[in-house]
Amino acid sequence: MGKYVEQYQQSLSNPDGFWAKAAEAVDWDQPATKVLDDSKAPMYRWFSGAKLNTCYNALDRHVKNGRAEQAALIYDSPVTDAKRTYSYQELLDEVSKLAGVLADLGVEKGDRVLIYMPMIPQGVMAMLACARIGAVHSVVFGGFAAAELATRINDAKPKVVLSTSCGIEGSRIIKYKPLLDGAIELSTHKPANTVIFQRPQAVADMQEGRDVDWASAVASATPANCVSVEATDPLYILYTSGTTGQPKGVVRDNGGHAVALMWTMKNLYNIQPGEVFWAASDIGWVVGHSYICYGPLLNGSTTLIFEGKPIGTPDPGAFWRIISEHKVASLFTAPTALRAIRKEDPDCDYIKKYDMSCMRALFLAGERCDPDTLFWAQDKIQVPVVDHWWQTETGWAIAANCLGLEEFPVKPGSPTKPVPGYDVQFLDEAGQQVAAGEMGAIAIKLPLPPGTFPTLWQNDERFFSSYLETFEGYYETGDAGYQDEEGYVYIMGRTDDVINVAGHRLSTGAMEEVIAAHPDVAECAVIGVADKLKGQSAMGFAVLQSGANRDDAEVVKELIALIREKIGPVAAFRMATIVKRLPKTRSGKILRGTMRSMADGVEHKVPATIDDPETLDEIAENLKALGYPKSV
Ligand code: COA
Ligand code: AMP
Repeated sequence: MGKYVEQYQQSLSNPDGFWAKAAEAVDWDQPATKVLDDSKAPMYRWFSGAKLNTCYNALDRHVKNGRAEQAALIYDSPVTDAKRTYSYQELLDEVSKLAGVLADLGVEKGDRVLIYMPMIPQGVMAMLACARIGAVHSVVFGGFAAAELATRINDAKPKVVLSTSCGIEGSRIIKYKPLLDGAIELSTHKPANTVIFQRPQAVADMQEGRDVDWASAVASATPANCVSVEATDPLYILYTSGTTGQPKGVVRDNGGHAVALMWTMKNLYNIQPGEVFWAASDIGWVVGHSYICYGPLLNGSTTLIFEGKPIGTPDPGAFWRIISEHKVASLFTAPTALRAIRKEDPDCDYIKKYDMSCMRALFLAGERCDPDTLFWAQDKIQVPVVDHWWQTETGWAIAANCLGLEEFPVKPGSPTKPVPGYDVQFLDEAGQQVAAGEMGAIAIKLPLPPGTFPTLWQNDERFFSSYLETFEGYYETGDAGYQDEEGYVYIMGRTDDVINVAGHRLSTGAMEEVIAAHPDVAECAVIGVADKLKGQSAMGFAVLQSGANRDDAEVVKELIALIREKIGPVAAFRMATIVKRLPKTRSGKILRGTMRSMADGVEHKVPATIDDPETLDEIAENLKALGYPKSV
């Protein structure tokens, strides 16, 4: 029996034993009384009764165990022309002082702290400082607008917000502080303080009494010690898109998270302490939480923060420069980034300038990796390319080629096999397993393994109705796909209104709510259409109120601006069209799937239940005007 099969079977037949063994890699203040706690099933908990501190495990113990001088964090910022390496000792000192600042502001165990930061080391320091004192952080991605930030402030109710004066997007300076001020203005919950890291590119105005200057506060702070927390206490909340405008507050606990991430660093990514692991994501996404901040540091490896883009900072060789300069053993990015590089440098000439011998593997996630991109990457980089599938909810991969266990041959279009801990099943509408090769809804038999979300922030009900209700005894992933005879899984798309634009998860439902609020719009639909570079792009269809008497092009412009203002630039919403009517079924359901197939040029049947087939003619005409269907 191969190592993968052995481990996979053990993880399902004896989850207690399997995860108790993995937990030996973590330093606990107190051991668990129960490894898998099923006393409140289907709400499962891991490592009940245990106590630990995540920051201690990520920093202090490595300093104690001889890694004080080893690099913990490398910051490389082509957009500011800055580079800096923090050793474990230096990072620990910075984090302890920042934790002291938070403690001085009255932040205690269980209090929430919102983090709104670009890709600078202070973002990771902020996360670890919260973990150090048992506060619960919630990082918000920089590309969201003030209104989205306000929604998260209202839900998480942070005592303090940690932010900065600005971020840098390519050559543009994005002022964060006015966005933050705007969000606090909009929110009903008002954080008592903000701590602002001033950057020279744009110094922020400060509000006396509320805003604290980061650098001076840290300079005079008393370092804070680690606070021991329950393994089941929340470490963070990360908001992610659901089907409505109200994002879901995914909760991560401390104990299961540390155990699972340490297990993946060795068994999935095959990364040893002392090696450099680079996740070219953003700390605002789950990949950034798990593999820019926590995973590599828990493992005693070196993490890398890149403030730049795959192209244009300054050229499509940026990734290769960083890998060779900082001796990166493995890179983790989204297929979109590779498509962007390939578009500018199809023959990958830039890679030839660098010594890439340090690189062992490339990991891809965030969206399906199309075979074309996979072949290109394999051919040009000459390392194993591992597509792996995961979600904000799970926090780590559900399916992957676990390089630390046993490397399987790659099948293009497949993220290989379920990772130990996940009993992945493919179900029909009645909840019955479908045969190999047949499409089904992808569900995971409960319990989910450690490190996955135990619930949504203060909303067990929504957790249950969103994920556990459809298939009793299973977690519904929201993805659809199939498994072949050899156990390889194929993830083909979402079953809900979530779309994936440039590896960013977005809700078409949330966009529809924004468009519907325009005074001249009677009703609307937003769909995700195939995009050669970004995987998917959002496209909106709006019906105007009768008597609106507006110029269509003007309204379209307003809708595009409205989405940018309410959701943010990250939505990359650039296509909208005005129609007289939306295609619907006789019962009034909008035929979004049919519209999507038409836009993608995919063969489709006109549903028998359609109310008026002529509505599709207008959709086809408007799609044509937008240049769709286009071959991708
Ligand atoms: N702060 C502020 N604005 C941001 C932002 C941030 N952190 N991130 C993105 N934006 C803005 C961009 O500047 C852009 O604004 P614009 O409309 O004014 O041009 C908009 O949001 C859309 O951004 P994006 O979709 O990223 O497009 P892009 O053209 O700037 O870059 C790629 C295209 C492919 C290079 C880029 O999307 C990329 O690197 N993707 C990889 C994504 C990834 O790693 N995801 C993590 C999952 S593992
Ligand atoms: P997020 O929560 O932002 O990580 O987005 C999760 C969603 O992205 C999943 O539910 C999938 O739809 C999609 N996704 C992530 N990784 C992959 C992958 N490797 N293959 C296919 N889809 C993926």
